[in-house]
Amino acid sequence: MFTWIFIFWFMQINNCVSALVNNISRCYYRISEEFHHEGDVVIGAFFPLHTFHTRKEKPHSTIPYYYLDSKIQYNFKNYQYILALQFAIEEINGNPNLLPNISLGFDFYNVRFTGKYNLDITFSWLTALGQRNYLPNYNCKRRNFSAALTGTSWITSAQIGTLLQLFKFPQITFGPYDLLLSDHGHYPSLYQMAPKDTSLSLAIVSLMVHFRWSWIGLILPDDHKGNKILSDFREEMERKDICLAFVKMISDTWNTYVAKFWENMDETNVTIIFGDIDSLEGVMRNIEQRLLTWNVWIMNVEHHVIDTTDYFMLDSFHGSIIFKHNYRENFEFTKFIKTVNPSKYPEDVYLPKLWYLFFKCSFSDINCDVLDNCQTNASLDILPSHIFDTAMNEESINIYTGVYAVAHSLHEISLQQLQMQPYENRKGIVFFPWQLNIFLKDIEMKDKRSLDWRQTIDTEYDILNIWNLPKGLGLKVKIGSFSANGPQSQQLSISEQMIQWPEIFSEIPHSVCSESCGPGSRKLSLEGKAICCYKCTPCADNEISNETDIDQCVKCPESHYANTVKSNCFQKSVSFLAYEEPLGMALACIALCLSALTAFVIGIFVKHRDTPIVKANNRALSYILLINLTFCFLCSLNFIGKPNTAACILQQTTFAVAFTMALATVLAKAITVVLAFKVSFPGRMVRWLMISRGPNYIIPICTLIQILICGIWMATSPPFIDQDAHTEHGHIIILCNKGSVVAFHSVLGYLCFLALGSYAMAFLSRNLPDTFNESKFLSFSMLVFFCVWVTFLPVYHSTKGKIMVAMEVFSILVSSTALLAFIFGPKCYIILLRPDKNSFNHIRKKTPSRSKNFLKHS
Ligand SMILES: *[C@@H]1O[C@H](CO)[C@@H](O)[C@H](O)[C@H]1NC(C)=O
Ligand SMILES: *[C@@H]1O[C@H](CO)[C@@H](O)[C@H](O)[C@H]1NC(C)=O
Ligand SMILES: *[C@@H]1O[C@H](CO)[C@@H](O)[C@H](O)[C@H]1NC(C)=O
Ligand SMILES: *[C@@H]1O[C@H](CO)[C@@H](O)[C@H](O)[C@H]1NC(C)=O
Ligand SMILES: *[C@@H]1O[C@H](CO)[C@@H](O)[C@H](O)[C@H]1NC(C)=O
Ligand SMILES: *[C@@H]1O[C@H](CO)[C@@H](O)[C@H](O)[C@H]1NC(C)=O
Repeated sequence: MFTWIFIFWFMQINNCVSALVNNISRCYYRISEEFHHEGDVVIGAFFPLHTFHTRKEKPHSTIPYYYLDSKIQYNFKNYQYILALQFAIEEINGNPNLLPNISLGFDFYNVRFTGKYNLDITFSWLTALGQRNYLPNYNCKRRNFSAALTGTSWITSAQIGTLLQLFKFPQITFGPYDLLLSDHGHYPSLYQMAPKDTSLSLAIVSLMVHFRWSWIGLILPDDHKGNKILSDFREEMERKDICLAFVKMISDTWNTYVAKFWENMDETNVTIIFGDIDSLEGVMRNIEQRLLTWNVWIMNVEHHVIDTTDYFMLDSFHGSIIFKHNYRENFEFTKFIKTVNPSKYPEDVYLPKLWYLFFKCSFSDINCDVLDNCQTNASLDILPSHIFDTAMNEESINIYTGVYAVAHSLHEISLQQLQMQPYENRKGIVFFPWQLNIFLKDIEMKDKRSLDWRQTIDTEYDILNIWNLPKGLGLKVKIGSFSANGPQSQQLSISEQMIQWPEIFSEIPHSVCSESCGPGSRKLSLEGKAICCYKCTPCADNEISNETDIDQCVKCPESHYANTVKSNCFQKSVSFLAYEEPLGMALACIALCLSALTAFVIGIFVKHRDTPIVKANNRALSYILLINLTFCFLCSLNFIGKPNTAACILQQTTFAVAFTMALATVLAKAITVVLAFKVSFPGRMVRWLMISRGPNYIIPICTLIQILICGIWMATSPPFIDQDAHTEHGHIIILCNKGSVVAFHSVLGYLCFLALGSYAMAFLSRNLPDTFNESKFLSFSMLVFFCVWVTFLPVYHSTKGKIMVAMEVFSILVSSTALLAFIFGPKCYIILLRPDKNSFNHIRKKTPSRSKNFLKHS
């Protein structure tokens, strides 16, 4: 609401100005450019009240003048300089302790940007003849000169300084600190009031770091200052990994029409404009005209908004950030400004002009005095801030400080004189200007804030944000500060929510060459490019990066694994073939079912123990085999569940022993059949063997051999618990290590050897004529058993982890099932479904005598 009222009022002012422009009173031009404020001791004030000259051959030629006219165009913002001088002098004159009975005055000259003119007015001032006549080396009116205040541009100060230094005439500059001017060889009597900008590049770079801007453009004047700043920035930025996308130096012969200059301006979102306003005003003016609104401009100077005709338009500098020396706000000055009017300072030639332009007064035709027909509320503080600012700007502060420095020096001189000639009846002091040098030198050296009239300190900055939307609002809002003296983390303080960014940014802008590499990836620098331009590449396996923009990924420790996005190492979970998981559960169930089935078969055999088929096939061995098979099935359970050392040892030994016994039983069975039918054996021996049940001894013998092998295995390198961290992602698999691979293979080999032996035996008797001849089935089961374990080996060796264990269990189950199915399946079929075949009558019909013989013995 306030803003709109303000704008409305502001437009009115503007309209009236435009109207006046067309019919400006002659008096406006006739009034001179210089004036004198009387005092016993005078200060020469050489301030620019113009913007740049619009002469075609000069650089900055596009800069239009204030309040358009071909002759005089003022930048009334600079009028504040005069007021600051006036204000300081009034304060000093009113202070009875500083310069009692001496009044300070000043001579004001409006400097232009030509050396000839500046030397001209300086000579004129020193000679004090007025009207541009001069006699070098004469002080015609015996005026009490003290010092000259010059600025703002260092060029002006240097031009005036070349003359003043001839006389060792004290010169105080109020423009930005300049290294050239600090050369006391060239300018022995020049003192700079501006604090050094030692920490400004650091401050700006800190802001870049704060907002993670790493791709920055830089616009500098192409002079000694620009080069110094450039090297400062390069150094700071290198330290903080910030890169310069472009550096544009504005030379003296800079031409705004060079298209190349504007070419890559949009490469960055943040551009620093750094230098003094005098060298940069031209380029800033162009930026404004070109409406480069997509950039956040970081500046150390403030652009004077001049065009006010398009105030509803966007402004290039809306959202800019300005770094300024931090200083105490001088409220007295603001109060003072309210009291200023043409009648209070009749000698001041600029106040009538201001009043005429802005407050609708008119000039009297006779003597060009401003008449009293102004607006009643006329006062400088109601002017909009782009025309006149009531807050003291940095240069004004330096002027204020400079005047105080002169006053203090005069004070010292008068004290000295009082000490030397205490009784002389004098009026005021008598001195030569050069005498001030001793004291000014002292003051320049002193700690800035120890003098209470010094208002700035060189390491502290305010950060201001320009709010200029709609155009003409021209607010400068303090959004933070920087203090180089603080601890590193507290140097910069900034309140982000206060900042208004240029319109096109909906959030905090970012300016980077390459988007940052998030967690999980690392930077891969590109050859021949700045370090800020890089590619992101994902971390290698089992490596992580948990922060952004990391150069190297970190390896996860062995016990940890990298998550899929490679941003964190996680503790691996322990894994084994558990009963709870489907595979383990399925295998366990199958094992239990099969052992139950085996038990069921035992039941059938026991129940039908007296039937021919059971009796014919060596009943005892069948029982042993069935019981063994039960164990074989059950021993697979050892492999499932969390392994421990006992389980590891049991796994292999029970497996080995149970299978050995089973195979030995099969072998015994096969041998028995062979013995019973093979004619080649002598009958007595066969009988003896049959009676003594000789083949049955094979079982303990073979088992003992296997136990021996296992014993050696367990004694030399028993199985132990092992961890496998690599096979399965994110898991550490606990499993039994066989200990000795050789032993394991020996066990398997022995089993296969037994199976082959049994197969051979069964094969020999496969064609024997016997109703219940099981040789075919025995040989077949052995073949399957052999095949299972032979195929097991390559598969076993090509798998890892849980599958490897499951594979072994599977093989155990399959081979046992093969034995059960092939040996006992057909018998169960006959017992249960074909009882007719299972009768003695049936057998008698078919069996030859020898088999009856066998039946008797079995
Ligand atoms: C300009 O002002 C003069 C008197 O100040 C007046 O006589 C004249 O008519 C004005 N011209 C215009 C165009 O307003
Ligand atoms: C100032 O002037 C007055 C009278 O003119 C005189 O009495 C007083 O002593 C002077 N003060 C100093 C410090 O010279
Ligand atoms: C000042 O007074 C004039 C009339 O004299 C009025 O039009 C204008 O709005 C006033 N400005 C302010 C800021 O009060
Ligand atoms: C110079 O200073 C003395 C004493 O301070 C004073 O009497 C004299 O009038 C001054 N000269 C001028 C020209 O103001
Ligand atoms: C500038 O900002 C725009 C919009 O926020 C963004 O898309 C672009 O990537 C930025 N450019 C750079 C160089 O960061
Ligand atoms: C990144 O990981 C390192 C080591 O693992 C750790 O010290 C650091 O705190 C982590 N940083 C973040 C942001 O998580």
